[in-house]
Amino acid sequence: MNLCEKLIEMGGKPSGAPGRLLGRLMNLGHREAYVWGLAQLPMKPDSVVLDIGCGGGAALKLLAVMVSKGRVWGIDHSWEMVNLARQVNKRFIEGGQVAVDHGSVSDLPYADEMFDVVTAFETIEFWPSLSEDLKEVRRVLKPGGQLLVVNRHPEQERDSKWTESLQIRTSGEYRERLGAEGYVDISVDDRSRPGWIAVLARKT
Ligand SMILES: C[S@@+](CC[C@H](N)C(=O)[O-])C[C@H]1O[C@@H](n2cnc3c(N)ncnc32)[C@H](O)[C@@H]1O
Repeated sequence: MNLCEKLIEMGGKPSGAPGRLLGRLMNLGHREAYVWGLAQLPMKPDSVVLDIGCGGGAALKLLAVMVSKGRVWGIDHSWEMVNLARQVNKRFIEGGQVAVDHGSVSDLPYADEMFDVVTAFETIEFWPSLSEDLKEVRRVLKPGGQLLVVNRHPEQERDSKWTESLQIRTSGEYRERLGAEGYVDISVDDRSRPGWIAVLARKT
């Protein structure tokens, strides 16, 4: 396994000391992408938000500031990331504004129609069954709720191993897959930040 394949595997479920290091690096390295992606989302201060594949938890911190009167949940299937995200968000967790759970996108431990917004930063390429998982996300969104997906834009990625690992590559594929699972008002921004794509979709 070469370094690129190792990083892809580790990114899908960070573990051990290297996983913790990767979580901290992602917290730093993805920050600008979170800020860019979240700027596309008309968030209300009392929104209830879920960040799936929350990794090291840096996006949860930004979300907690954005929804100062709401509540933010993070979920990740890596215990290493859950523990790191809990550490990074200790103050917000103690204040009852953030919670971080261990679990998979395929079987979310949340009630139907619980969230105004669901975010997914650099994680959907790792989801085990994209169609079923998008349905599961839809289940926990309120009617009118929005899903924000932010990813690197593979059309501008040179590394074929990375590109191969992605389940959706083009903006057309995002529209098609989300549309097939009943999402509407799908908008794609693959221009304003070179190398990145942000996709917003709404549950009717
Ligand atoms: C590349 S990391 C991105 C982490 C974080 N969102 C960020 O942008 O820094 C992908 C994350 O998705 C999580 N993940 C992958 N598959 C998942 C699944 N089926 N359910 C929940 N989390 C998952 C991984 O454990 C990892 O923390």
